[in-house]
Amino acid sequence: MNQSRKVYLVGTGPGDPELLTVKALRLIQSADVVIYDRLVSEAILEQIPSGVSQIYVGKKSGNHTLPQDEINQLLLNLAESERTVVRLKGGDPFIFGRGSEEAVLLARHGIKFEIVPGITAASACTTYAGIPLTHRGLAQGVQIVTGHSQLDKPLELDWKALADANKTVVIYMGFANRELISRKLIEAGLDKTTPAAAIQNGTTAQQTRVITTLAKLTEDTVMLQAPVIFVIGKVVSLADQLDWFEVENAIEGDFTDNEKSLHG
Ligand SMILES: C[S@@+](CC[C@H](N)C(=O)[O-])C[C@H]1O[C@@H](n2cnc3c(N)ncnc32)[C@H](O)[C@@H]1O
Repeated sequence: MNQSRKVYLVGTGPGDPELLTVKALRLIQSADVVIYDRLVSEAILEQIPSGVSQIYVGKKSGNHTLPQDEINQLLLNLAESERTVVRLKGGDPFIFGRGSEEAVLLARHGIKFEIVPGITAASACTTYAGIPLTHRGLAQGVQIVTGHSQLDKPLELDWKALADANKTVVIYMGFANRELISRKLIEAGLDKTTPAAAIQNGTTAQQTRVITTLAKLTEDTVMLQAPVIFVIGKVVSLADQLDWFEVENAIEGDFTDNEKSLHG
């Protein structure tokens, strides 16, 4: 194998192209071929120079555009034929992104690779929604979990550990299971009135933020659709006070219709 060839597994953050790292942007602009997921935003794809091949391998829950083993084979083939292969992933490649699975595959095949971290949705979407993950007196820590269960299996999480009023809980991929999640957290001891937020298309011009309570999370988010991230905990009570993103953009007239702040 030609040793100058390399595969880069690059996190792009959750949508706003200005959240790309300098390294991610440099690699996007020097790629021979770019492979990308569904969560990589249009604005980020616009940074790819014209003439560079772009291959979409995105997945939707329950509707796999390309199965992971075919993505793996594609990566191996491209690693053989191209010098700089840039594999873009929404957010951070190592947080619910299967970046580590692809890195293991490359390592097993002796293919040189680099991994570029990206800003993960838990950090960026909450910040753009005015919700700090920790705050003195409100949250001593953060628990990040997936709310996705395999089609034939129920969602199994450590509900007792998650129902900790002194920690923030962030749930990725939990939209389909949100009724179960809020019910289990209440059963495990978290107060029904615990502040809760849902952020759809965070950090983009389409960002929608719903501020509610744990008990009302399901009914207050019926109008949303993936990608949605949930935040549960006392820190959500700061969301209106710290609503910098939507307030700033509403002045320009772009975001007023997207804001849905429901108190209950
Ligand atoms: C397969 S995971 C990928 C996570 C990604 N690797 C990261 O670090 O953010 C997809 C989930 O991330 C969350 N997510 C990613 N981008 C988002 C965005 N812009 N707005 C809201 N949620 C987002 C949603 O929960 C979505 O279902």
